Amino acid sequence: MEIKDIRISPTRKLADFKICARFMSGTKPWLTLGRDYRACLTTVSAPLREVYAAKENGKAVGFIILQMAGTFRGYIQTVCVAPNARGRGIGTLLVRFAEKRIFVESPNVFICVSSFNKDAQRLYRKLGYRKTGVLKEFIVRGHDELLLRKTQGPLADFTGSKRRLHGGNDKRR
Ligand SMILES: CC(C)(COP(=O)(O)OP(=O)(O)OC[C@H]1O[C@@H](n2cnc3c(N)ncnc32)[C@H](O)[C@@H]1OP(=O)(O)O)[C@@H](O)C(=O)NCCC(=O)NCCS
Repeated sequence: MEIKDIRISPTRKLADFKICARFMSGTKPWLTLGRDYRACLTTVSAPLREVYAAKENGKAVGFIILQMAGTFRGYIQTVCVAPNARGRGIGTLLVRFAEKRIFVESPNVFICVSSFNKDAQRLYRKLGYRKTGVLKEFIVRGHDELLLRKTQGPLADFTGSKRRLHGGNDKRR
């Protein structure tokens, strides 16, 4: 199956949330961070999140969850691809999809990656993300979270399409 057969769309379905929580709770980094199925399901179904599913022939193969409010809006909270679908470009597709969505409203995309998650760090670096800070032992003792950012420039210079749509001078922070 080719990558062009993957469709990404928003979802609010509990069945999708459960699949996402299953993917997450069965794999690193969430295993190492002690996030079980219940905790992952709570995260996925929390309010003020945008959940997008990547589907192949109607079957979920990956998810990306965004937060579009607050100081660090444009935050990719979770990206997870089914274990048997990894390494085919689906993660890249999901991150690029998120960037397209976020850059309409903000010049910054943020993501946290665990200090031990070297494979994901390599992927984000390749996609243009740079380390902007270290959240020391943010989730569990012994492991840090690295805050990464991909930016189009300062907030003050940003002229996103949503801003233009509303005709304002909103330099929200
Ligand atoms: C990280 C993840 C989302 C990447 O999705 P993917 O579809 O496998 O990634 P792509 O095929 O688009 O890109 C492959 C790149 O991803 C990285 N990668 C991370 N984990 C990988 C895995 N298990 N298998 C293959 N590639 C992986 C590699 O850097 C690889 O680049 P390389 O070819 O130079 O080695 C996916 O592997 C995953 O769900 N991992 C477990 C959860 C996780 O770590 N999420 C990120 C939390 S911040």
